[in-house]
Amino acid sequence: MKILAIETSCDETSVAVVEDGRKVLSNQIYSQIDIHKLYGGVVPEIASRNHLEKISQIVDSGLAEANLSFDDIDALAVTYGPGLVGALLVGVNYAKTLAYALKKPLIAVHHIVGHIFSALTEYPELKPPFICLVASGGHTQLVVVEDYHLLKVIGKTRDDAVGEAYDKVARTLGLPYPGGPQIDKLAKKGDGSAIHFKRTYLEKDGYDFSFSGIKSGVLNYINQQRQKDLAINAADVAASFQEAVVDVLVDKSVMALKNYNMNTLVLAGGVAANSRLRDRLMAAAQTEGFNYYAPSLKLCTDNAAMIGCAAYYTGDVAKPVDLALNAVPSLKL
Ligand code: KG4
Ligand code: ZN
Repeated sequence: MKILAIETSCDETSVAVVEDGRKVLSNQIYSQIDIHKLYGGVVPEIASRNHLEKISQIVDSGLAEANLSFDDIDALAVTYGPGLVGALLVGVNYAKTLAYALKKPLIAVHHIVGHIFSALTEYPELKPPFICLVASGGHTQLVVVEDYHLLKVIGKTRDDAVGEAYDKVARTLGLPYPGGPQIDKLAKKGDGSAIHFKRTYLEKDGYDFSFSGIKSGVLNYINQQRQKDLAINAADVAASFQEAVVDVLVDKSVMALKNYNMNTLVLAGGVAANSRLRDRLMAAAQTEGFNYYAPSLKLCTDNAAMIGCAAYYTGDVAKPVDLALNAVPSLKL
């Protein structure tokens, strides 16, 4: 089954064709980052307008890259939430129009479920059960994936998402948006043990996260140094912040694997591109003896291939969604 998937939840316009949930025949991603960079973050209205301007062209390139025409497509899939409402609406309306005009079934996909399944397209042997650490700009969750249709959120952030904390710390250090990749790069030149930022674990045995404390710790440190006219080593700040965040993410993931008696961990979301997080999880997998999967960098940030994969495993073409489908900006998992 070939699914044409559309993703427009934030600032990437993406279209992919995925065969039988696993084989990515195309994955076109148009990123608006350069446009939003000028404003230090995503401007929702500008994001919607740019999706509108690009969507037809990206759908055409998605088909062309797969060397297919609309006739070859069996079903359509679209992200309907969570995300920016205006941005989501562009994809949802385009997908509904295509489904109506082509008389093909439409599958509605949860953006985070897409992230959770992104690694499936690259690792044929990977299948549930597994635990997924979702680390993105809008979400930080630990999810027990018992089966393709059985996902249980066991922990989530009570304040900032981890990507949001990266972006805010980066802004304070004067780095451009999006800050996550900038911190990642700068941290390589710094010492992660130079400054101790307090790790927030909340309840000892709990899986919830909190990153606003670590973020405020960094901001307070920078302000104090400035007030005292002392130098700030930005690379050390970046590395020390990153070490604090990664400690918590790794520890809670390993604890979840042990307590749920699982031996496979999957990493997903934009922050899954973080080199330190990837390395530390890889090291933990070796010492603790669990299987660890992380998508390639292109599949960590928003893309439609993950939506096509999730549509295949969670949708039902015999029961396509109604064309009254609407965008749901704060859709829960
Ligand atoms: O999943 P995503 O593309 O969008 C959401 O669904 O939120 O994630 C974007 C987030 C941004 O906060 C960005 O700074 C962060 O992922 N990010 C990174 C890295 N690459 C992207 N954070 C840390 N290290 C990276 N290498
Ligand atoms: Zn995302």
